[in-house]
Amino acid sequence: MDVLGIDIGGSGIKGAVVAVETGQLVSEHLQVKTPRPATPDTVINATGELVRLFDWHGSIGCGFPAVIQSGIVKTAANIDTSWIGVNLRDFMQRKTGCTCSVINDADAAGLAEMVFGAGRGRMGSVLILTLGTGIGSALFYRGKLFPNLELGYLPLEGAPAEHYASAAVRENEKLSWVTWSNRLNRFLNHVERLFSPELIIIGGGISSRHEEFFPLLETRAELVPAGFLNQSGIIGAASFAAEQGYD
Ligand code: BGC
Repeated sequence: MDVLGIDIGGSGIKGAVVAVETGQLVSEHLQVKTPRPATPDTVINATGELVRLFDWHGSIGCGFPAVIQSGIVKTAANIDTSWIGVNLRDFMQRKTGCTCSVINDADAAGLAEMVFGAGRGRMGSVLILTLGTGIGSALFYRGKLFPNLELGYLPLEGAPAEHYASAAVRENEKLSWVTWSNRLNRFLNHVERLFSPELIIIGGGISSRHEEFFPLLETRAELVPAGFLNQSGIIGAASFAAEQGYD
């Protein structure tokens, strides 16, 4: 079964058709810019445009950077606050005419990694962290997800950790790998003290540069880059839609 996976992020809205039995992309990977301001109307219009580029009429799985419960957006950290309370699933369905499932973006990336990627077959506690505009997190035990974890909101230096140690902070503040890795270590140590994961998987665009900073990180847990790097979100969102039983 093929599902269109979409990953709505702070800078881009990405999509590809995914064969959900294997997690493989079976189309090209397309992207449109996330509009500014990123309000519900502008983002859904841009997402609708992406769906039209694929000429897609099947089911859609969509990852979104917020707490999502029953299709409804509950938080707005790096997105416009007018998103809070919006039923993203219904909005997407009306816009595209397709059956849609929606899930937190990091939870989607985590699902892809647990089923097809770096966490495959791991039954102990596994934490996936996506480092991008914010810090996304997804925690699994015995392969089951505890959703909407939001560890990027743990306080560090009097602010949410994602304002201190995300990949965007490294770029915006022009931090060296050493300085940024020290910040990331503080975050990882804090998280390890609370959850003691056995495996930590690092995703997000920066995971393709893991050779630059992994040697600088100190974790008790085994640390690996995401198997699908920045594509986990698309693959996981599509798998989630398939699990929901829509076709
Ligand atoms: C959001 C999370 C999201 C993460 C990564 C954070 O700002 O609160 O829900 O998973 O960014 O996009």
